[in-house]
Amino acid sequence: MCGIVGFAGYQQAAPVLLEGLEKLEYRGYDSAGIAVSGVNGDGEPSIEIVKAKGRLKVLREMTDDGRSVPGCCGIGHTRWATHGEPSVVNSHPHYAKNKRVAVVHNGIIENYQTLREKLIREGYSFVSSTDTETAAHLLDKYYEKDPIEAISRLMFHIRGSYALGILFLDRPGEIYAVRKDSPLIVGRSEQGNFIASDVPAILKYTRDVCFLPNLEIVRLSADAIRFYNVDREEIQERFTQIDWDTEAAEKGGFAHFMLKEIYEQPKAVRDTVNPRIRDGHVVLEELGWDDAELAKIRRLQMAACGSAYHVCMTARYMIEQTARIPVDVDLASEFRYRDPLLEKDTLVVVISQSGETADSLAALREAKSRGLKTLAIVNVVGSSIAREADSVFYTWAGPEISVATTKAYSTQLAAVYLLAIALGRARGLVDAEKEAAMTQELLRLPDKIERILEEKERIQWFANKFSHSKDIFFIGRGLDYASSLEGSLKLKEISYIHSEAYAAGELKHGTISLIEDGILVVGVATQNALFEKLVSNMVEVKSRGAYVLGVTSYGNYSMEDVANYTIYVPRTMECFAASLVVVPLQLLAYYVALGKGLDVDKPRNLAKSVTVE
Ligand code: F6R
Repeated sequence: MCGIVGFAGYQQAAPVLLEGLEKLEYRGYDSAGIAVSGVNGDGEPSIEIVKAKGRLKVLREMTDDGRSVPGCCGIGHTRWATHGEPSVVNSHPHYAKNKRVAVVHNGIIENYQTLREKLIREGYSFVSSTDTETAAHLLDKYYEKDPIEAISRLMFHIRGSYALGILFLDRPGEIYAVRKDSPLIVGRSEQGNFIASDVPAILKYTRDVCFLPNLEIVRLSADAIRFYNVDREEIQERFTQIDWDTEAAEKGGFAHFMLKEIYEQPKAVRDTVNPRIRDGHVVLEELGWDDAELAKIRRLQMAACGSAYHVCMTARYMIEQTARIPVDVDLASEFRYRDPLLEKDTLVVVISQSGETADSLAALREAKSRGLKTLAIVNVVGSSIAREADSVFYTWAGPEISVATTKAYSTQLAAVYLLAIALGRARGLVDAEKEAAMTQELLRLPDKIERILEEKERIQWFANKFSHSKDIFFIGRGLDYASSLEGSLKLKEISYIHSEAYAAGELKHGTISLIEDGILVVGVATQNALFEKLVSNMVEVKSRGAYVLGVTSYGNYSMEDVANYTIYVPRTMECFAASLVVVPLQLLAYYVALGKGLDVDKPRNLAKSVTVE
């Protein structure tokens, strides 16, 4: 996820672009850049680009708050790295050959590798590792006289998601933009016209905006805005008045970043999964290992902290079942000091959203010091864990602002599924038919998550009844135990209600003595073979006074014979069920905390990235 802004008007563009980018820093903050079209010393049209690594203030300092870059038309970008580490060369805008075109991009061009190789054969040279530079060169290639034609040709060749802001050297004073599956708005005002990824970027200047529909192109100058479809026909678009305040706008109208990020999960999972599935096969070329290499792995050792540790717990069940490889899972803080016995041919997998968690980094270093092959599943490109691991699997969740992880967690689960399928195939346990079925179902998960989100009111209503609880327990078996751990952590970290998760079979070994009248017990049951057993555990706690909430898949209606209240999620392959049940558990935690009037995004005593031991 990155932030884009563009301005064509009657005043200097660079200060306006910097102001806009400041409001979009929540979308990315590892580097930033602007491109302004103007005239050079010889009176020729020129596009001046200034870029800086780090927070926006570095770019501000470099440009004297924009004053040193003259011109009334430009585009800007604040980056959250996906392809290529955060650096000046990888930051946007990107030029094409002869600086004829400058481009800013938000999204992921899935087929950029193939396009890049083709362009190199045609004589184009690349300076960055980004997918965006491919779009810049393609535009240069297709651009003869008509920018709209060049853009529509580009759209036929790139796959994935994109919002692009474009300047053409010989069209000073004009900005072109197009989008597919990444947001883009167009704003109009007396001072000039705008494009932006999100409303806050331009709210200071205008509330009169058009949410650009998918696959549409816009051309704007200081005094005109024109819309085109992919067939280059001019069309009319409607503008609406924004009545949100700036703070609400930054959260896209959601009350909290956590809720916004819960809602971003379908897209985050799509972005992580789709580029890695081709013709029914999992393609993990970024790891640099082929199937023969994967087949040599005899054991997996996984280490992580907090929620990422729960992903490892899920992975253990999933990978052992799918690829029949033993998987050991450790809390990173334990792993680093327990002097583990690790045999060669063990792959050590560290999972981290931030890529900077001190214990996870130490676990990775411990594994490397023993000469073991390491794989990092990380969200932040160029982070310490990503840099130090032998191979990196990036989750493309975009920046996560809320302290409690939600969308990063979902993408980590998706990463683990893809890895499990690849390992299973390499070991001859997942044949082409099974791989096709599994990948097809993976591609459907985002839609199923969307369906759960549509029913959020039921969860909200339920959560309100329990926001004054003292203790809440979660129980599950197998994969559902791992999901219960995550549900319980989410609840306690933002609602401050004491909560524990148990493997349901453990209840009788001590814990059941904690059950009192009216206490809430959440039973998670998505695994057919364990369903009856979990239901019996729910009967046990209910008969001791517990109020029981069942979370299960549609079709398991016998849950209602026991549970006081039941939440259903769509059916999926059992091995992927964790991706669905976690959503109501996140919503439950969110609404319980909201009911208590707490600061959901910044829970007490917690930090987003734990860089100390
Ligand atoms: C819980 C949460 C934390 C993190 C943990 C690891 O909602 O966010 O438990 O999962 O601190 O952080 P990363 O993934 O950045 O290593």
